[in-house]
Amino acid sequence: MTNSMLKLEHLIDIKSLETSEIEAIAKRALEIKNGAKHLSCAGKHAALMFFENSTRTKFSFEMALNKLGASVYNFETSKSSLSKGEDFFDTLNNLAAIGFDACIIRTGEEGLIKRTIKETEDSRKFFKNIALINAGEGVSAHPTQALLDFVTIKENFKNLNGLNLVIVGDIRHSRVAKSNIELLSRFGVNIKCAAPEYFKDETLKNVVWCENLNEALKDADIVMTLRIQKERIQDIIEFEDYIKNFQVNENNLPDGCILMHPGPVNRDVELSSALIDSKRGKTILNQAHNGVFTRMAVLEAILGGCDV
Ligand code: CP
Repeated sequence: MTNSMLKLEHLIDIKSLETSEIEAIAKRALEIKNGAKHLSCAGKHAALMFFENSTRTKFSFEMALNKLGASVYNFETSKSSLSKGEDFFDTLNNLAAIGFDACIIRTGEEGLIKRTIKETEDSRKFFKNIALINAGEGVSAHPTQALLDFVTIKENFKNLNGLNLVIVGDIRHSRVAKSNIELLSRFGVNIKCAAPEYFKDETLKNVVWCENLNEALKDADIVMTLRIQKERIQDIIEFEDYIKNFQVNENNLPDGCILMHPGPVNRDVELSSALIDSKRGKTILNQAHNGVFTRMAVLEAILGGCDV
C-alpha cells in the first residue's frame, strides 16, 4: 500500500469514522502485522499527552511511532506550563508552532478533543497542521481500543454479521464498551450487556441488557470483560456479590467463544486467574499485541509518510 491509502485529519471517536475507514484501518493493521512494508514517518513529531495513567495505549502508541520512524515526545503535565495555568488550547497552539504534527491525548475530560477541534474551526486562530488523536477520553470514547478489538475479532471470525458478543461488567463507566458498541453494532454484531443495575447505562442504543450472567453467556461467540473499578462498587454492594454473580471463570465461559479484556485486569475479580493464565486467556495479550499494528495504521493515515 502506498500514499494513496486512507487519510485522516484527526481521530476523535468511532462515531466520526466512516465504516469504510474502520475497515481500511483494520485491513492495514493486519497487513502490517503480516509483514507488509509500512510507510516511513521520519521527520514527523508526535507528543504523548497522557493526563490519565496508561500502560498499553501509551506504550503501543510510542512503539508504533518508533516503528514508523517518527520522533516521540512525552508531555509531562506536572512539568509543563499547564501546571502554571496555561489554557489547553494555547498549549496546543504552541506545540503546533514549535512544529508538532500530532498530539495523542488521554484525558478524563469528556468531549475535550472534539471541542478543541471545533474551536479551531470557529473563532480562535489555530495552526491547522496539528492532528489530535484520542487515546481514551472520559467514559465515552476509546477509539483505538475499539479498532484493535475489531482487528482481534476479525482474526478469529471470517464474518462478523450475526456474531453474539457479551460485554460483562462496568459498562456505565467504560469508554471501551461505548466505543466497541458503536463500532461492532455497525458490522451486524448482536450485543448483550451483562451487568448489575448500578453498572447499566440505559441510554446506550443497540444493546440488550441482562442481569443473569449465565443466561447472557449462552450462545456467546465473544465474551468481552471489563475492569471493575473496586472503588466504584464498595459503597453500593458487597464486593463478593459482584464476584459471585458476574465473574467470568473457567466454569462459566462457554466452549468455543473467545475471551477478551482491554486491560488492566483485576485478577480474581472480573476474571479468574485460572482463566487468564489458561490457553483461552491468550487473546487478551493478542489484543495488546494488535494495539501496535492498529495504531501504526491510524498513524500512517494521519501523519502520511513515504514508502521506504
Ligand atoms: N486498554 C487500555 O486502555 O489500557 P491502558 O489504560 O493501560 O492504556
